[in-house]
Amino acid sequence: MTESTETVTLDLTVNGRTHQVELEPRELLVDVLRERLGLTGTNLGCETTSCGACTVLVDGRSVKSCTMLAVQGQGRDVRTIEDLADGEVLHPVQAAFQRCHGLQCGFCTPGMVMASVSLIDEGRATDEQSVRAALKGNLCRCTGYQNIVAAVLSAAQEIEADR
Ligand code: FES
Ligand code: FES
Repeated sequence: MTESTETVTLDLTVNGRTHQVELEPRELLVDVLRERLGLTGTNLGCETTSCGACTVLVDGRSVKSCTMLAVQGQGRDVRTIEDLADGEVLHPVQAAFQRCHGLQCGFCTPGMVMASVSLIDEGRATDEQSVRAALKGNLCRCTGYQNIVAAVLSAAQEIEADR
């Protein structure tokens, strides 16, 4: 990272590709993803750490990207919803959300899916209670959560069976 008086030039690796971005140190990761890199799959809701719409993976762990400065992404591996599907083939978590009707308006869905991917990878999607507890930082105003929990458990089973 090279510094000038007001901006820094950052090498930011997102979805396996490194981008050189000139930005102010105060800029949030979510804004850089959406506005500089055009990755608008990551939604911006509350901007105050409450809703989870902005959840991405950083080094494989779910992070609310409105809580992280973009400069903190230097040297880390950032992954967004755009990187999950393999062409036309949905990631198992995306497919489970579709199969189980785990979305309605879809605003919370990218964040919900990314948080679920991390949850499943960490082996913590073991039962309904664990999933509900782990996703309590991701809010959904439409679904009532039942189908989201069902989708996460279904995807966890499928992913575990493939391991
Ligand atoms: S926009 Fe980041 S938690 Fe709501
Ligand atoms: S599907 Fe609308 S907010 Fe969750």
